[in-house]
Amino acid sequence: MRRGEKGILLVIALIVGGTMLKNLWFVTHDKTVDRGLPFYSTMQKDEEKKAMRLISDNQCRDCHSLWGGEASFMRNVPAPRLDGIGSIRDEEWFYNYLSSKDPQSILPSRLKKEFSMPSYASLPEAERREMAKYLASLKVKDWYLTETRKAEYEKLTGNTYKP
Ligand code: HEC
Repeated sequence: MRRGEKGILLVIALIVGGTMLKNLWFVTHDKTVDRGLPFYSTMQKDEEKKAMRLISDNQCRDCHSLWGGEASFMRNVPAPRLDGIGSIRDEEWFYNYLSSKDPQSILPSRLKKEFSMPSYASLPEAERREMAKYLASLKVKDWYLTETRKAEYEKLTGNTYKP
């Protein structure tokens, strides 16, 4: 090997080695850890499938966003997102809300009737129970709870959240 070639190889080795060391440094020293998605469900996968079918049959996602899917832009209703909602309210509350002939008597609306939460009182009880159970299983990790409350408050009231 000639001198010049050795030199080039050395430079390449330095660049490659340096990059590897730098990556290693970031892996071990980077403090901004990726915390992943904050939303999850505590429900078993097969039961969740059944519940998701009810959510889709009843067009909940025309107005609400859930699991990354945004609410339908055709309707564009500023309803609170359902991800993490089970960390804010419980199953009993969801059941009563879905069963109420007048959901706005439980949770007031700032929207016109056609955009506000419809009554699901006429659905079979088993379906209301299943959906309530599912909503209660939709949790948010603690580190994102305040953000979730803030978003919910702002959707419900149209005001800026001040804790
Ligand atoms: C026509 C639009 C629309 C549809 C369809 C709809 N919602 Fe709603 N929902 C809303 C709005 C808007 C609110 C906020 C309260 C209000 O304005 O009436 C709300 C509130 C809620 C809340 C309370 C949220 C909170 O902040 O505590 C839950 C839970 C909920 N809806 C679940 C559902 C489920 C489950 C379905 C399907 C079975 C559904 N919604 C279908 C518009 C809708």
